[in-house]
Amino acid sequence: MNLYNVYSLFDINLRHGKGAMVYDEKDVGYLDFYGGHAVISVGHCHPHYTETIQNQLQKLSFYSNSVVNELQQELADKLEHVSGEKGYDLFLINSGAEANENALKLASFHNGRKKVIALTNGFHGRTSAAINITHTGQKHAALINHGVEVIYFDKDDKDGIVTAIQNKDVSAVILEAIQGVGGLDMISKELAKAIETVCLDTDTLLIMDEVQCGYGRSGAFFAFQHLYISPDLITMAKGMGNGFPIGGVLIKGEKMPAVKGRLGTTYGGNHLACAAGIAVLDIILAEGLIENAKKMGLMLSKELGNLKDIIQVKGKGLMMGAEFDFPVKALRKNLIFNQHVFTGSSSNPNLLRLLPPLNITENQADQFIQALRKEL
Ligand SMILES: Cc1ncc(COP(=O)(O)O)c(C=O)c1O
Repeated sequence: MNLYNVYSLFDINLRHGKGAMVYDEKDVGYLDFYGGHAVISVGHCHPHYTETIQNQLQKLSFYSNSVVNELQQELADKLEHVSGEKGYDLFLINSGAEANENALKLASFHNGRKKVIALTNGFHGRTSAAINITHTGQKHAALINHGVEVIYFDKDDKDGIVTAIQNKDVSAVILEAIQGVGGLDMISKELAKAIETVCLDTDTLLIMDEVQCGYGRSGAFFAFQHLYISPDLITMAKGMGNGFPIGGVLIKGEKMPAVKGRLGTTYGGNHLACAAGIAVLDIILAEGLIENAKKMGLMLSKELGNLKDIIQVKGKGLMMGAEFDFPVKALRKNLIFNQHVFTGSSSNPNLLRLLPPLNITENQADQFIQALRKEL
């Protein structure tokens, strides 16, 4: 049987990993400045992570959401502690698109509206509602391309966004504090505050999509924390499980009390996923990874800023983009095959996207800069 030919693949077969390194079948090591697409938060095969999952596997890997699973509460309590966000309830699912799908559904349950405001260059996933509100280069299938009325605005069009929300027919505004796929643009504090205020006045819900920029990546637990706002709904995935599929929606409890039977999932919040999620939070806390992301981000941004070919350094913490005045496709390939360094791309062809694990060391940051220098 052939594999359905969905992805453009680099011909590299990875067999194992450790920290920020991954190794192919010939044991050639690659520095992972892509984090397996922003997923690897605490590093590959962290001993506490693998041990926690192994232990859980030997006890119970899955049971349905029809019985109590105490690991879900442990995960929720740790998440509140590590993120510092209080007053939210946690709903667990399996991926980023699913998190956004459920957040949009909750917003619509709450205010009965069906319009959504999203940003140009935003990316929110590939499922039905999520793809409808995604602006960046997605193929919309005719079958699922209806039902959600979406209005896209540029992140600089504060007045346009505020005026549209004032019509009181918008269910939710969904934003990435730092756009990932879209090319590392960050929204301003002014825009975030203006949207938060008008949302409160009009019973419109503010959803922050933290699927990529959350979980410590930006040097704060959630990237919206840089903007001093308090969203109604927060969506998470990627770094949450360090590769184990898990996603979550944080729901402002007092505003949207749960109604039984409205949401559900077979696998969401299963025992193994919770074990992975708990281990990630333990490591982030014990090893000060949010601080490390901030420190390494500042160091990288300074070093990148000194490279002559880079016209702009974007992003925050370890969610960074280096913009050149030429397309970076060949550079990415050369970094992989000549220097053994993985990096990411984005919808901006001139931008190299950097998403290493949050526990990279100064040496590894330096190694990356040297490798990049050699290829420029
Ligand atoms: C900001 C953002 N939201 C949602 C998603 C979709 O997540 P998933 O691929 O887990 O469905 C992504 C994936 O890249 C993302 O970057």
